[in-house]
Amino acid sequence: MESIVDQDIDHKRRRFLVATTGAVGGLGIALAAWPFLDSMEPSQAAIGAGAPIDVDISKLEPGQLILAVWRSRPIWILHRTDAQLAALPKNNPMLRDPDSRQRQQLPEFVNGDYRALEPHIFIAVAICTHLGCLPNFEPEPGSLGPDWQGGFLCPCHGSRYDLSARVFDGSPAPLNIPIPPYWFKSEKIVRIGELKDGGSQDWSPAIW
Ligand code: FES
Repeated sequence: MESIVDQDIDHKRRRFLVATTGAVGGLGIALAAWPFLDSMEPSQAAIGAGAPIDVDISKLEPGQLILAVWRSRPIWILHRTDAQLAALPKNNPMLRDPDSRQRQQLPEFVNGDYRALEPHIFIAVAICTHLGCLPNFEPEPGSLGPDWQGGFLCPCHGSRYDLSARVFDGSPAPLNIPIPPYWFKSEKIVRIGELKDGGSQDWSPAIW
């Protein structure tokens, strides 16, 4: 199985292996431009029909973000560093729903600051909960203001999310970004689109 495409790119781009094609205003525009993962199984036709995908994360470096596609939606897979994890609770007073209590936060294990099965590996649907744009990855602390611990910024109307994709108060986006069902088949392979027991095949967030 192939893994993440190796690219000779600068430091910042190493953390966000996405072909830069200019501003992306709609989800449908963006997907064809992101060819950097070739580790998904089964076939593209089956994936489009909603089948789970397996992604090789063995080369995902700390601080690096990659994209997969599941059910025609972009999926973030971020390897959070120890420092990024330690900074997450600082955001809580500024977040709209720090504990992810809204119905859409599936599956249950995503509750809490980490919103992940394994804290260092963060997986979420890369779609802004306002009107569906793709938020940009902005990991540098302080880059968007003194309280910025790193996160995601939507280029369309300015919604901000932390590195657990929890939305900041004052953003037009109403909800945290949903977490898809997933489980780790091994240390290298994450299966996105189902739970370990095979459940959540009918997963659908309450938005979009
Ligand atoms: S679509 Fe993201 S802020 Fe409007």
